[in-house]
Amino acid sequence: MRLPPCQAALCAAIGLNLLLLLCVWRWGTPQPPRPRAGGDNTAPGLTPGVTVLLREFEDFANDVPGVARSFAALRPPPPLLVVADETPYPPLPPLPPGARLLTLRPAPDRPPRLSRPELHVRTRHVALVPDGVRATPGHLERMRDALENGAGGAGDNTRVVAAPVRGPTPPRCLDLHVSLREWTARYTPAGPCRAVEGDAVLLLRTRDLFNLSFPLARPLPTALFMQAALRGWTVRLLPEAAFAARRPPPLATPHGRWKAEAAARARRRRLLADFGVKRVVLPEGRERWYGCGKETARCFGTVHARTPQYLHQDRWTPPCCLRALRATARRAAAVLAAAGVRYWLEGGSLLGAARHGDIIPWDYDVDLGIYREDAGKCRLLREAAAGAAVVDDEGFVWEKAPEGDFFRVHYSRLNRLHVDLWPFYPRDGVMTKDTWLGHRQDVEFPERFLQPLRPLPFAGFTAMAPNDVRAFLELKFGPGAIENPEYPNPAVKRLEREK
Ligand SMILES: *[C@@H]1O[C@H](CO)[C@@H](O)[C@H](O)[C@H]1NC(C)=O
Repeated sequence: MRLPPCQAALCAAIGLNLLLLLCVWRWGTPQPPRPRAGGDNTAPGLTPGVTVLLREFEDFANDVPGVARSFAALRPPPPLLVVADETPYPPLPPLPPGARLLTLRPAPDRPPRLSRPELHVRTRHVALVPDGVRATPGHLERMRDALENGAGGAGDNTRVVAAPVRGPTPPRCLDLHVSLREWTARYTPAGPCRAVEGDAVLLLRTRDLFNLSFPLARPLPTALFMQAALRGWTVRLLPEAAFAARRPPPLATPHGRWKAEAAARARRRRLLADFGVKRVVLPEGRERWYGCGKETARCFGTVHARTPQYLHQDRWTPPCCLRALRATARRAAAVLAAAGVRYWLEGGSLLGAARHGDIIPWDYDVDLGIYREDAGKCRLLREAAAGAAVVDDEGFVWEKAPEGDFFRVHYSRLNRLHVDLWPFYPRDGVMTKDTWLGHRQDVEFPERFLQPLRPLPFAGFTAMAPNDVRAFLELKFGPGAIENPEYPNPAVKRLEREK
């Protein structure tokens, strides 16, 4: 059979089109990655070796080229990556061949991979080196072997190996416990090694480093050890693999040091804010606070449905807020007592006092009841009742609450953490009041609970409380209230018991 020429042309055209379609389909869709020769299951695509990564340096005075040249002279030279937030200024002198500079800040006209260092590390291990370090042949390999073939018994979770950088004080190991729920990082001198104090080269597996939430946040050691502690990792310090460092160090002048310290403080603040750590307990027991104070706003916003924002983040009241609330409660109680105003711990505050002598760790205010007829004895309450917000001698602000017939004592003008003062009055032996907020515990009660008032330790001082605390609390919150803690509004967010 013979086809007429025009039909043959048509068939050829259709065949060509089909072929074209196949090509587009075949090469246009992504192919699954092929396993690389030599790769293993745990680190696909990574090759044996250690990439040297330089992250901690100051733009205005550094020894980045010196570090790079020193490592580039090793045989074989390790891959070298310098990572900066943005292009250093003044610009770095030229780096030796093979060293790359990456900036983390993306630019709208550059491909994203240029700001993603994890795409540029091709080796299974990374060494994070401080500025000024000098390479020693064999040390990186020794560190890697210590990580991979170390004494790792059962339960050993060593994920970081640290080698000292020689200097006036040798680095030491610290234990580190980070509680995000309590916004607190606590360093202690004894215990498993979870952080290294002092200059050190840190080596870890590439997949571990880039699986961190903030792999290259600065200050790099602080960021790394806090994240490691949260994951239960431990650190192994190898004193025998000490690295030399440039003398004098890159920041030798007093001005350079001063500038670097100020920059480091600013970075530390930013890091702790990003991590939600507001209190750091140092190994010697000193505390550093990074949270709110009298000159800052309260560190959580308006509370909706009696459930502050931090409870939704599975965190409790920031420690700086608890501290400020304690101070405000102590101040309010002292002023009331001095003026002869009878007051008592109310609601959740009494519950906290009964449970552990303090504010409930997730509470966001303090409640005190007062006898309404006594309010006039206190100048601050008289002035507040007249409609003015009064600042007392210690900077606490007393005012009448706009929401109803009660008073508030604020920590400061700016920081609106507060103690609520609820005026009650007796009627036929029952204590009642005029403003009700419709909470379960907001109920009338027999006056006999206040006759007499009893002292009770609370928030670091001795407060006054009803005389039968258990009966009073069970009347307000129901049976078992002291033994069974619950968040203020379980319908919105429940307390999860620790297993
Ligand atoms: C990455 O980290 C998460 C925890 O943050 C962990 O569950 C996961 O196993 C890690 N992945 C790898 C590949 O290590």
